Amino acid sequence: MFRIFVIATLPLLFVFSSEIFSFLSGVLCPSCNCNSTKPMARIPRPQLRPEFLALENGTDATLECEEDGYRMHVFSREPLVVYFEDFVSAKEREHLLDVSEKIYMPSTITHNGGKTSDRNTKVRDSEVALVPRTEEVRCIERRARAVQGWREEVWIERLRVQKYNPGGHYSHHFDWSSGRGGWGRVSSFMVWVDGEELEGGGTEFPRLELRGDRKKWCKFIECGDEVVSEDVKTAEVRKGVVFKVIPGNAVYWENFKSDGTGRGYNETWHAGLPVKKGIKIGLNIWSYGRID
Ligand SMILES: *[C@@H]1O[C@H](CO)[C@@H](O)[C@H](O)[C@H]1NC(C)=O
Ligand SMILES: *[C@@H]1O[C@H](CO)[C@@H](O)[C@H](O)[C@H]1NC(C)=O
Ligand SMILES: *[C@@H]1O[C@H](CO)[C@@H](O)[C@H](O)[C@H]1NC(C)=O
Repeated sequence: MFRIFVIATLPLLFVFSSEIFSFLSGVLCPSCNCNSTKPMARIPRPQLRPEFLALENGTDATLECEEDGYRMHVFSREPLVVYFEDFVSAKEREHLLDVSEKIYMPSTITHNGGKTSDRNTKVRDSEVALVPRTEEVRCIERRARAVQGWREEVWIERLRVQKYNPGGHYSHHFDWSSGRGGWGRVSSFMVWVDGEELEGGGTEFPRLELRGDRKKWCKFIECGDEVVSEDVKTAEVRKGVVFKVIPGNAVYWENFKSDGTGRGYNETWHAGLPVKKGIKIGLNIWSYGRID
């Protein structure tokens, strides 16, 4: 009886460990589970791996962090997309550049919910650093958890700094590959760390609508000349947005609907546009856990 049980659990464990392994890289998933309104099956918590998840432990109580210095603006309520000014300080940005400098590796792409991954510079051309959990880094992790209301069974993934040289880019993709069993990459922060004299490299969401006053948003997003003219009806809904690379600032979004169906938001399809000049350094803060 016992032996049968062991044999039956093995494939399940494999599926989970491969999914958590997918944290090493990004996820390319051209089709999403955006349609099914059936409630998803819920399965128990997968094994959590500290190599990829920034798990908290007893030492966090003594961590001393700078006070948060950000200002936030809701870009969209459904899906929830929030823009942050000064999410990371100049000191933190310098620290992130220092700790990443010597540990960059080529970025890869993950397929089939994390079962395979490869490098394809046509799709993704950047270098990634899995940054060590220094005190400064753990303060950023703590801030990202606080933004999300210390949600139960949601953990910050180990932070990753991405470097894009001229020509570097990441084609349109979702950050999540599946909400299988009610677990997945629940949210994403794109934080801009550096981009002196940069051209190109914005973060594009072609399916996302802006309902706010576009003129107010032009500080943070690309606006053509025509949309900043006085004649424009600013309340008009427009599809598609490109966030500018502004070091220190960040955009946060939720990847999954919270209605128990396990559906991901089609609007979270996004790209890192090609860098034309200069070097772009970004920080990914992903969170993994219960998607509802
Ligand atoms: C996602 O958006 C694309 C582009 O607008 C559209 O063609 C597709 O049907 C959408 N998918 C779902 C599941 O809504
Ligand atoms: C999901 O819904 C969208 C919009 O209604 C439709 O265009 C698309 O073909 C559907 N996809 C699937 C896989 O049923
Ligand atoms: C807690 O996490 C920190 C940061 O990863 C690590 O340096 C420390 O050894 C951990 N402490 C324990 C008791 O696991």
